[in-house]
Amino acid sequence: MPDLETEGEDERRTYRATPEPGPERPAPEAQERGSRTRTLWHGRFAQGPADALMDLSVSLPFDRRLAHDDLHGSRAHVDMLASVGLLTEAERFAIADALDRVEAELNGETFAFAPTDEDIHTAVERRVTELVGDAGAKLHTGRSRNDQVALDLRLWLRREARSVVLRLHDLQTVLVRRAQECGDDDYLPGYTHLQRAQPVLLAHHLLAHVWALGRDVERWQAVAARADVSPLGAGALAGSSLPLDPDRVARSLGFAHRFENSLDAVSDRDFVAEALFAAALAQVHLSRLGEEVVLWSSEEFGFLRLPDEFSTGSSMLPQKKNPDVAELARGKAGRVIGGLAGFLATLKGLPLAYNRDLQEDKEPLFDAVDTLTLSLLALTGLFDAVEPVGDRMRAAADVETTAATDLAEYLVERGTPFRQAHAVVGALVRQSLERRIPLTELVEAEPRFGADAQDLLAPGAAVRRRTTPGGGGPVPLVAQLVAVRELLAREQAWLDA
Ligand code: ARG
Repeated sequence: MPDLETEGEDERRTYRATPEPGPERPAPEAQERGSRTRTLWHGRFAQGPADALMDLSVSLPFDRRLAHDDLHGSRAHVDMLASVGLLTEAERFAIADALDRVEAELNGETFAFAPTDEDIHTAVERRVTELVGDAGAKLHTGRSRNDQVALDLRLWLRREARSVVLRLHDLQTVLVRRAQECGDDDYLPGYTHLQRAQPVLLAHHLLAHVWALGRDVERWQAVAARADVSPLGAGALAGSSLPLDPDRVARSLGFAHRFENSLDAVSDRDFVAEALFAAALAQVHLSRLGEEVVLWSSEEFGFLRLPDEFSTGSSMLPQKKNPDVAELARGKAGRVIGGLAGFLATLKGLPLAYNRDLQEDKEPLFDAVDTLTLSLLALTGLFDAVEPVGDRMRAAADVETTAATDLAEYLVERGTPFRQAHAVVGALVRQSLERRIPLTELVEAEPRFGADAQDLLAPGAAVRRRTTPGGGGPVPLVAQLVAVRELLAREQAWLDA
């Protein structure tokens, strides 16, 4: 495949090289002679398209990316046409050969795009017709670019959704490995309102992100399932008078279903909107994860040491080591959310069925999938190598005040109503802070507490006491690790299927 991502100025100029306006512009008859300047709809028109129209209209710079799927869809379409007698065997082979040749030219970057190749579908059909003449001119029988583009995008998304699932799964796998490595040893303050609340195991904290990513996996699996409907045969909007066999095409392309309603088939972009949402929410999760990396790697927190290969320096400040990967994962959430919001706005006023507005589906979708993929890869690398600073985390978690709830629960276990226990401990904490007396001393002096209450203030005691199933201590961690490994195994089975 050519590098479909590059859209250099030179390349762009080739699309601009439409016929000059004015007397030089070839008349349709002239267009007839040179098929390279002929549009797909030239028959109806006395004049060729204006440059300004073509400049606005072209989608080739971005839909080239669908080339592989376009060829795949065309092969299935041609086989179907032959199976219902709309192509002879000779024609079928001629077109199939031409499609192979187009693929080879695209792969070898020798495919010559023409100025009137408004999109990838036009380019492929034009080239096939150049190569095999009349047989090629039959390629588009019973098909419209409206059902063709919907097909291409569904094929593309069905495949890409799998690869997003794989990348999500890889990040989860690294996080689970890191969680297992730190086991019961590393704990840190858990926060609410970004104020220290109760200590939790670092493993528990990492696994929280794994569960969120697990829901992203489910959403991307649903994206793949939603894309798994063949729209081919819907034609421009209403199907055809020709004896097409959409079920056959759907089957041969491995779709789970074919469309039930041709109008819906060509106008439905729910699958794009849902993918954009799945991307936006996954990117929001990465943004939140990134935010923690930014905070934790600061000198103020000091919970993480960033790996060199996933950090950046400053051009001016020699001492700096910056968490740009995490910041970019966070920052890029903005564009993915924007893509979703923008595309929903594109859709909201559209009457049935196909409208050219729908061409606006591809750029946000490609961008969202690319952005998410790049962010996942970089964060996976970062988490693979990041160094947790256990001492700093434990020191922050072992401040006396994070055991305040345990002190209140000590009283509850001995019959004090919780609200009163809360008030008693709250008053002790206030005194401790105001009078700068260690909480241990105040607890010792408070008759409601026995000597055993001191144990609650010992380092690591509070985290060990978080025993609720699904809670942040070592006891429930064991079961949680079993559950998370089962989750990863289910995902792996889906990927292997
Ligand atoms: N480039 C177009 C798109 O992305 C292909 C479909 C064009 N259909 C049409 N009727 N002009 O939507």
